[in-house]
Amino acid sequence: MTVPYETIDTPALIVDLDRVRANVEEMAAVAARHGVALRPHVKTHKMPELATAQLAAGAAGITCAKLGEAEVMADAGCADILLAYPLWGEPKLERLRALRERARVRVSLDSVEVAEQLGRVAGRAPIEVFVEVDTGLGRLGRPPGRPTAELAGAIEKVPGVRVAGLLTHAGHAYRTTTSEELRRVAEREVTDLVETAGLCGGGLEISVGSTPTARHAAAVPGVTEIRPGTYVFNDATMIRLGVATEATAAARILATVVARPASDRFVVDAGTKCLAADGRPEDIVVAGRPELGMRFLSEEHGVGRCPADGGPEIGERLELIPNHVCPVSNLFDHAHGVRGGAPAGELAVAARGRVR
Ligand SMILES: Cc1ncc(COP(=O)(O)O)c(C=O)c1O
Repeated sequence: MTVPYETIDTPALIVDLDRVRANVEEMAAVAARHGVALRPHVKTHKMPELATAQLAAGAAGITCAKLGEAEVMADAGCADILLAYPLWGEPKLERLRALRERARVRVSLDSVEVAEQLGRVAGRAPIEVFVEVDTGLGRLGRPPGRPTAELAGAIEKVPGVRVAGLLTHAGHAYRTTTSEELRRVAEREVTDLVETAGLCGGGLEISVGSTPTARHAAAVPGVTEIRPGTYVFNDATMIRLGVATEATAAARILATVVARPASDRFVVDAGTKCLAADGRPEDIVVAGRPELGMRFLSEEHGVGRCPADGGPEIGERLELIPNHVCPVSNLFDHAHGVRGGAPAGELAVAARGRVR
């Protein structure tokens, strides 16, 4: 991304559409090469335009976390949605019934209780579910093997419900420190699910793949679908994990230096309200300026460090690559598209704030 951006006021979320296209095509090629379906998680961008671009590049469907996100994406024409979140309560069941009228919707879950609720929306066709498995993150799901096989068996007996597959999210891959450790997490993600599917009698879909693990996991026999989300933009965490570079980081916060209170300190007009409060501020990347770094963020201020003899001037604009880009998209109504280094129109972050 090169200047000029003079027309864009800061702080702003900037999305380089050339980089997005390259990222989208690269992951689509990974999935195609290994013969697995790609179902990107749209929580990263929350932008119907980018979901549509992912589908046009070959994605089989999309993944959403919240029903509200799925509704926005269905409005934009997304016809095949995996809701990777357990749904509970009559208001949501009512909305799920309506959503099923206009899209193929499958839901992940990890309990018989949620399955019994979902069975009530079945109507003419059973609701298809993915049983979530805990392959190490410790969030949702039972451990692989017998505990999950028993759960899947019990869910299969629930009227109106059909178990379509097993699903896991290897979010613990974010905590790995070597590429070898990352590869092991990715392989375990698949092999745990494939072995568990064997105990369930086989024939189940196997849905895996965060951005750090997706490229490895796609190559492991037995996987049927990968669900990376962050790859569309990448972020400082992906750079640290070695699965992205500054050149593939497509979403950045454009910020202006508003103060130089000390020779080794600068302040930009972007704090946690723009960069989110995820991760260590020191890990935020100041693109193209390796001599600069961030020290801490308050809500409206980003405080950075610089060499005493070479800091940025007041009024200079910097591009900051956030630690975790998904909550950053959630903070903006619009992103500024950039193509070939020039502003290329706004993108609506239409599914931001859809917490229900
Ligand atoms: C269930 C699920 N699937 C897929 C993803 C995508 O992972 P990533 O953002 O690492 O690409 C997430 C991210 O949080 C997730 O929660």
